[in-house]
Amino acid sequence: MRETGYAPFAVLHLLSLLNNTGRNITMEKDFWLERWEREETGFHQQEINPYLRQFWQELHQLQGGEIFVPLCGKSLDMLWLRSQGCAVLGVELSPIAVRAFFEESGYKPDHGSCDKFDYCEADRMRILCGDFFDLIQDDLKKVHSVYDRASMVALPPEMRARYVRHLVSVLPPATQILLVTFDYPQAEMAGPPFALPGGEVEALYGEYAEIRLLARCDVLAANPRFAARGLSRLHESIFLLTLKA
Ligand SMILES: C[S@@+](CC[C@H](N)C(=O)[O-])C[C@H]1O[C@@H](n2cnc3c(N)ncnc32)[C@H](O)[C@@H]1O
Repeated sequence: MRETGYAPFAVLHLLSLLNNTGRNITMEKDFWLERWEREETGFHQQEINPYLRQFWQELHQLQGGEIFVPLCGKSLDMLWLRSQGCAVLGVELSPIAVRAFFEESGYKPDHGSCDKFDYCEADRMRILCGDFFDLIQDDLKKVHSVYDRASMVALPPEMRARYVRHLVSVLPPATQILLVTFDYPQAEMAGPPFALPGGEVEALYGEYAEIRLLARCDVLAANPRFAARGLSRLHESIFLLTLKA
């Protein structure tokens, strides 16, 4: 895995601000597809996310239903969620990421397609390969919880409201979301990851969900690559959101 190069995204981001919304989204899709092609996947964690282990119990419906992992990459957290008894449903743009997830975890998945997505699935883990914004309610009808790490911070601020509106419009009522985000002084580094201040979570989700901040941790020392890029502060925050019924 190579270290992430963010400069191209900064250029795309700037260009996207000059264009209309449809064009903006296309450019961002290309950015992520190229990141996977070039193996620039510094966001991928080799360990299970410690906050997932710590706060998993906060989700009410742990067993039986399906947990949705938006913009899932090849996150190992999906294997951990499966080991806790949940069926897992991911959505991911890059077919490279989807293939890598199953291959690297030793599965020979079944393949299929439905409407706008191709999918791979094995052992009650299904990843839809395609655009998050193409999901419809029927795709998520069995979902009871969402685990969202590094999705909102992957999106530039002007796309986040659209992301949140779409997510809440396709989830069943009363779904719970465990949300892991980053915050840092945005002026010190071009994203992604883009900074996501706690107040923005409140502003974006406030009308749709009850919001509880579970923890806010200083993680700069544990992420020397960000310190090396000039960050003076880096916080990771974990929120529990419960959508209104
Ligand atoms: C910062 S990575 C986070 C991946 C994963 N959540 C993790 O924790 O490792 C963002 C991921 O979102 C995917 N992505 C970006 N835009 C997407 C979209 N519109 N639909 C589906 N996946 C998308 C990218 O390909 C990338 O794998």
